[in-house]
Amino acid sequence: MALIPASREAVTIGKVIHATGYRNLPPDELVDLAIESQVARIVKRSLVGGDESFFIADLGQVIRQHRRWTQNMSGIRPYYAVKCNCDPTFLKVLAELGTGFDCASIEEMRAVLSLGVDPARILFANPCKAPAAIAFARQVGVFRTTFDNIDELDTIKAHMPEAQLLLRIYANDEGAFICLGEKFGAQLDTTEELLSRAWEIGLNVIGVSFHVGTGATNPASFCKGIKDARLAFSQAERLGFHPKILDIGGGFQDDCFESMAPIIREAIRSEFPVGITAIAEPGRFFARSVYTLVCRVISRRRQLGSAALSGVPDMLYQNDGIYGNFMNVIMEKEIMVPYLVKSKNARGYLQKSKPGDALQVKAHRYSIWGPTCDSTDCVVREVTLDSEVKVGDWLKYKNMGAYTSTTATQFNGFSNTYDTLYVNSETLPEY
Ligand SMILES: Cc1ncc(COP(=O)(O)O)c(C=O)c1O
Repeated sequence: MALIPASREAVTIGKVIHATGYRNLPPDELVDLAIESQVARIVKRSLVGGDESFFIADLGQVIRQHRRWTQNMSGIRPYYAVKCNCDPTFLKVLAELGTGFDCASIEEMRAVLSLGVDPARILFANPCKAPAAIAFARQVGVFRTTFDNIDELDTIKAHMPEAQLLLRIYANDEGAFICLGEKFGAQLDTTEELLSRAWEIGLNVIGVSFHVGTGATNPASFCKGIKDARLAFSQAERLGFHPKILDIGGGFQDDCFESMAPIIREAIRSEFPVGITAIAEPGRFFARSVYTLVCRVISRRRQLGSAALSGVPDMLYQNDGIYGNFMNVIMEKEIMVPYLVKSKNARGYLQKSKPGDALQVKAHRYSIWGPTCDSTDCVVREVTLDSEVKVGDWLKYKNMGAYTSTTATQFNGFSNTYDTLYVNSETLPEY
């Protein structure tokens, strides 16, 4: 089934298709065009509207990332980690491209199943699950799941005795944005005992998984995980299990993907020469570059008095912050890079009415803050933009698809639902 109709229109909003004929534009220009059209729509709708930030998703970028994956990680099937971004349209494209899905909760399983995905394509990759979640998985036919402790085995035995289990072992890339090893993963000196317990109570272990941490940079951490997995495979085999699946988790990043992939593939080839199925759970790799976020400046503090004299940057307040789509500023120490949207419609709605208050086209330094009344809600400590920014202007942030909308809160009463406009800078393959 093709997601975008045969005419291959470039821009969709929700279910509305806007025919365009801009098919040959480069992806960035197509995204800018969509921003311009949404801004014009908001400005037309209401003089002071546009209270929420919005996303532009380039579905063509999903296809390009999938192509990169298959070219560099051939033979390693991706199970996209839904926690990273659960936008149904994005999930649907991935489903059509044939990926599997890593789900961590009932709602994530529901989201994937509602697209008509076969439950056999879902891995319930949460090693510490509530009994109700295990029972739900069984009811809908999701039998593959992970474990890393004795008690979890007992819960699984009680609620899904026919489970197909992957032992999650400890792995760690110390340079990762967020290390997961502190919370999950059996140490190698415990795996034998865990596997023996699984054997004793009649559970079936079909493989081993690990996750080196999200935002990993060191291929050696994957190599170590693969080597450790080999040991756990051998332990399982000695007990009588027939493990077949090696799951190398997530952690893949755009920047170092091509350099890390051959090292990982070679490690798998040398530790597991034959007879296994390798899978992975990438999240960030697929979602991050697909989404651009557009925020509106809702207030501004031009420094006066001593702050102005000592050069403190002027302050912009925008309609989205760290309690919304910018939690990565805190969690991953990400440095956000704003771009001023300069199309005609996008310049501030207040600025027109002030004669003599023409926009200054020269470099301005700003700090940028979210909308809440919390002073930790700082999105950018300092940035130099090439022209003045006024109330009502829009700021664009690229690469905002990973751990953004899925981690947004309603703190201080601000909404955490956002419009998404879809563009397609590629021709979707026929299925
Ligand atoms: C079990 C599991 N799998 C996959 C992922 C996705 O990781 P990434 O987005 O770094 O690829 C995560 C992220 O926390 C995870 O916890």
